[in-house]
Amino acid sequence: MRFDIITVSPELIQSPFEHSIVKRAIDKGLAEVYFHNLRDFASNKYKKIDDYQFGGGAGMVMMIEPIDKCISKLKSERDYDEIIYMTPDAPILNQATSNTLSLKKNIIVLCGHYKGVDQRVRDLFITKEISIGDYVLSGGELGAAVLCDSIIRLIPGVLGDETSALTDSFQDNLLSPPVYTRPAEYKGTEVPEILLSGNFPKIDAWRTEKAYERTQQIKPELLDE
Ligand code: ADE
Repeated sequence: MRFDIITVSPELIQSPFEHSIVKRAIDKGLAEVYFHNLRDFASNKYKKIDDYQFGGGAGMVMMIEPIDKCISKLKSERDYDEIIYMTPDAPILNQATSNTLSLKKNIIVLCGHYKGVDQRVRDLFITKEISIGDYVLSGGELGAAVLCDSIIRLIPGVLGDETSALTDSFQDNLLSPPVYTRPAEYKGTEVPEILLSGNFPKIDAWRTEKAYERTQQIKPELLDE
């Protein structure tokens, strides 16, 4: 799966792709990630990609022309399944969206900055808008890194144990049950006995019960979905 990330701050977004599971996915050729500096598509000598907003008001707006040039170049090279714009005024990312996107082949992710992009970018080029939460970040880069991480770990072959992405929190609309590792007893606190019993049907039933309990306590709205 290929990601083309359009950004004004490539340095800000590169590091999450250089570690751990995501890096291994890239090294194995399961994910390809390319960064495109929007300033390279600016037509003025100052590499300016933003301007004042029509009608007045605080904050600069990202101009359509460099974004059009960058997206058009990419689209002339291959077909894209989605062109995603990272912005706080959009539906919030959830596991179902990441699952769906993990089945795609080529995705462009546009990171917003300042007051956002000229509305015509959204109207003409963007096929999907995603927020990572109801708060405003300095730019879409951290959101894009979160989005790509959540997708890449779902690509078949990325996680060693093929079942482990399926048992993540939110798959089946349930939070994960608690997990424990050695030692079985630490400063007087003990691991639930059932987990040491070797009775796997009972362990599964216990985990399901705990997943429901946790979901009910922390995110009861998931149980209504
Ligand atoms: N850009 C700024 N804030 C954002 C958010 N919450 N999600 C996605 N992109 C953003």
